[in-house]
Amino acid sequence: MYDNWLELDECVKNCKKCDLCKERKNVVLGDGNINAKVMFIGEGPGADEDEQGLPFVGKAGQLMNDAFKAIGIDRKEVYIANIVKCRPPKNRNPYEKEIKECLDYLRNQVILVKPEIIVLLGSVALTSILGKEYTITSARGKWIEKKGIKYIPTFHPAALLRDDSKKISFYKDLKMVKKEMDKEN
Ligand code: URA
Repeated sequence: MYDNWLELDECVKNCKKCDLCKERKNVVLGDGNINAKVMFIGEGPGADEDEQGLPFVGKAGQLMNDAFKAIGIDRKEVYIANIVKCRPPKNRNPYEKEIKECLDYLRNQVILVKPEIIVLLGSVALTSILGKEYTITSARGKWIEKKGIKYIPTFHPAALLRDDSKKISFYKDLKMVKKEMDKEN
């Protein structure tokens, strides 16, 4: 574990723990406020993210930005990361082995950011963080408190691109996040 971002960043940039390093253009560690109250966790970089080295800058990111804007969440106020830091080829789901190798980096990010709330975007984020017993259909939109952190699973924004009807639930879940964000401590 690193106690500063510079060292973590340097380590992740040079990571060769799994084969995803072979085809990546850029490692995508995270983006946003490193002292955020809320952290969003996605699955892994897509082509645009791999190109730019930043999370959620492609189509799914645009959808997330639109939802943030509509609900009044400032993207600069939150921290955004992914389960795996390098793009899986052809946007396939990351393999178990790749997730396992990469999770320590995310744990390190959580320790440094110290978020009160973590939004889990989609099934890979949900099951990698909270366990395989959870499914997105039954867990979404519900608070799950563990070790002092409030988790809320919701649909991955890319799922909204495929199925427009999921938008209502996604917006509803983000409204719950916004309400919790605005609570005084
Ligand atoms: N999908 C993800 O899960 N993460 C990104 O950064 C972009 C798309």
